[in-house]
Amino acid sequence: MAYKNFFIVLMTGIVHILYIYSTLSSSYQCNSVIRSQFLPIENPRIGIIGTGYVGLVTGACLAECGNTVICTDIDNVKINLLKKNIIPIYEPDLETLVIRNIEQERLLFSNDIEQTIYDADIIFIAVGTPAADNGSVNLNALYQVIDSIGKTIHKHLVIVIKSTVPVGTGARIRTYLENVHNIDPDLFCIVSNPEFLREGSAVHDFLEPDRLVIGIELDTSYDALYMIYKSILTSGVPCIVTNIATAELIKYACNAFLATKLSFINEIANICDATGAQVHTIAYAMGLDHRISPYFLKAGPGYGGCCFPKDTQALVHMARHYQVPMHTVQGAIDTNSTQHKVPVNKLLKIFNGEVNGKVIAILGLAFKANTDDIRCSPSILVIKQLQDLGATITAYDPKAMYTTAQLFPTVRYCSCAYEAVTDADAILIMTEWEEFRHLNLKRIASLVRQPIIIDARNILDSDQVYKHGFIYDGIGLGIIHESV
Ligand code: UDX
Repeated sequence: MAYKNFFIVLMTGIVHILYIYSTLSSSYQCNSVIRSQFLPIENPRIGIIGTGYVGLVTGACLAECGNTVICTDIDNVKINLLKKNIIPIYEPDLETLVIRNIEQERLLFSNDIEQTIYDADIIFIAVGTPAADNGSVNLNALYQVIDSIGKTIHKHLVIVIKSTVPVGTGARIRTYLENVHNIDPDLFCIVSNPEFLREGSAVHDFLEPDRLVIGIELDTSYDALYMIYKSILTSGVPCIVTNIATAELIKYACNAFLATKLSFINEIANICDATGAQVHTIAYAMGLDHRISPYFLKAGPGYGGCCFPKDTQALVHMARHYQVPMHTVQGAIDTNSTQHKVPVNKLLKIFNGEVNGKVIAILGLAFKANTDDIRCSPSILVIKQLQDLGATITAYDPKAMYTTAQLFPTVRYCSCAYEAVTDADAILIMTEWEEFRHLNLKRIASLVRQPIIIDARNILDSDQVYKHGFIYDGIGLGIIHESV
């Protein structure tokens, strides 16, 4: 009997090990390095085309990892600023990284895209792929780069698509280069290497990613990418090497899931406001379930930025193209399209539906903290809505006032939160800047015309706010209000 049990345990263990191996090998864990016909390129010459949020961070971080990188862009103004050590975008730690690697001559900038392509062994394409009006993706900038490659290529080139592109784009680029530019199929290989950079922590997210995703064509090499990312890969970062379509869809799946998670908690918050339940506690209880995790469960005025809105629309558009319904993501889009109205409706309820002539101080313009980016920012939608209702707006944001002033010149932009709230009838906190968490509430109470705070990020301590005599509400705090 003992032998029989031993034999059963032994066979179970063997089957388990085989199962793990088969699972890993099918998902191409690139820690088990895959070798193929292309020899790894020692010290490859790397070109980055597109020096926006993604391209500049990619160039600076690849240089920081020991590579020599030339960044180029169609925007000569941007390149000339970078050549003078002037960084055109705000990202924590980026300026230090760029200047250090320029000084060490690992990071260079060029106005000549074609020359950059001509000299490179590997080209990273990091140009914008904005949403088109019908929800699809505008790939014009990408194909301008592909045409430059088609005209310039003269030796083997690894073409790495860093930009977020619809599933199938990598395959279509190969067909385009072969059939339109008559390029020898063996003269290039396409790689999909989507980025998962959050604005405001892009440098961290590049150098310490949760995972690397590398999509390669059948039987080609990822050795070139392995050499480039070696310092990250040898630190133990998981790396998924898969086919190109899978890599392209991983990016959309991640962003769409995160956006859906946010729309879900925002709808729960809206139920809280109708029932007296508290979203903080619900999110905490949800997050204790390891399958849900506590992250990305903060209710707010809706998600913004350049990615979630664009990528959710693109995924729904892709699904429609393949006649595959995508109701979940469409639902997230629909929820988000009205979430920015929640804080405004709270103000309207307090003012009996009338904000005409009221002074509303908006604290926070960027779509989230630690960035100067106002793309799809809920604050922008709220300013438009309040101005249409006749309110006068004062505003303060540590980083995003200049860009906002291009859209809303009649808003009074202030040098600090205290100036913005002076003589205000209400305060609307729209972005979770750290400094707003520590406002001197006693001083604020002495400056406002009416003590009303709508905290669309739930960042204040409601007890402290009440202690200073404010009418206060957030998103999903379950506070039922009477009108003033
Ligand atoms: C996102 C993805 O996180 C990143 O992986 C991808 O590469 C690019 O898009 P980003 O758009 O920079 O990054 O910002 P993120 O931090 O993801 O926030 C997106 C939006 O969700 C912001 O408007 C933010 O305010 C909002 N948000 C985030 C919430 O409302 N609640 C949360 O708990 C987290």
